[in-house]
Amino acid sequence: MNAVYLSGTGNSKHAVTLLLSELDANGRAVPVESADAGEAINCGELIIAYPTQFSNIPYLIRDFINEHADSWKGKKIFLITTMGLFAGDGTGCAARLLKKYGAEITGGLQIVMPDSIGDCKALKKSKEQNKAIIEKADKRIIEAAKKIREGNYPKEGLSFAAHLAGLFGQRLWFYNKTTGYTDKVKIDPEKCIGCGICANNCPTQNITVKDGKAAASSKCTMCYRCIDHCPKQAMTLLGKTLYEQPTFEKNAQSTL
Ligand SMILES: Cc1cc2nc3c(=O)[nH]c(=O)nc-3n(C[C@H](O)[C@H](O)[C@H](O)COP(=O)(O)O)c2cc1C
Repeated sequence: MNAVYLSGTGNSKHAVTLLLSELDANGRAVPVESADAGEAINCGELIIAYPTQFSNIPYLIRDFINEHADSWKGKKIFLITTMGLFAGDGTGCAARLLKKYGAEITGGLQIVMPDSIGDCKALKKSKEQNKAIIEKADKRIIEAAKKIREGNYPKEGLSFAAHLAGLFGQRLWFYNKTTGYTDKVKIDPEKCIGCGICANNCPTQNITVKDGKAAASSKCTMCYRCIDHCPKQAMTLLGKTLYEQPTFEKNAQSTL
């Protein structure tokens, strides 16, 4: 069993790595942006993991599924999405697309993790609350792994009711944010020192450093990795002010 994942601040990476370690000690978890991601599909059963974005799939994951359209026929796939609060049918969106290509969806898991949007005040939690959220998430993942080993796959986000919840709860209202990659990454030239950490972290190579300053293009998958790793707090995306730079490691500090 292998896994392919997208993770901005590390939550989905942690969730999928933990699940995989419980299910198959020899399994590989590969970032979707790595050259190995396509090859990782060649296994008995695949896990695909990603953060929920407006109750939808990040565009890079959608692209990965479409680009490997020929690989999904008869493939067994388990989906995990992580979320700050509400995913609706976060797993269901990928499930429907994969089924269109003939995949067999074995189940889905939707896990609450700390929020990753550093430039939006909503959903902000204290350090203690975030640690508690991670501890609870870990317990849920371990319980889910036990059920999967017994052949009893969780089906979170895959029902028709979840589909309606995702559609009416979020997707319809945020439709314009999820139809493609975005060009909305903002970089403050006064703060940017051209260190290139953002460019090195970007899973879509959307950022380049020119004349000592970072510049973003139009292929942002909204993962927030650049924003959360910028040493000068020079970047924003959905908001205009940066309130925090969350990463899984920071949030989990005392639980690791
Ligand atoms: C652009 C964007 C949209 C998001 N939309 C949702 C959402 O609709 N519901 C939710 O509960 N969390 C939402 N989140 C929060 C993330 O899904 C959540 O923090 C996730 O665990 C981040 O995982 P990662 O660290 O692997 O990127 C959103 C985050 C981003 C960056």
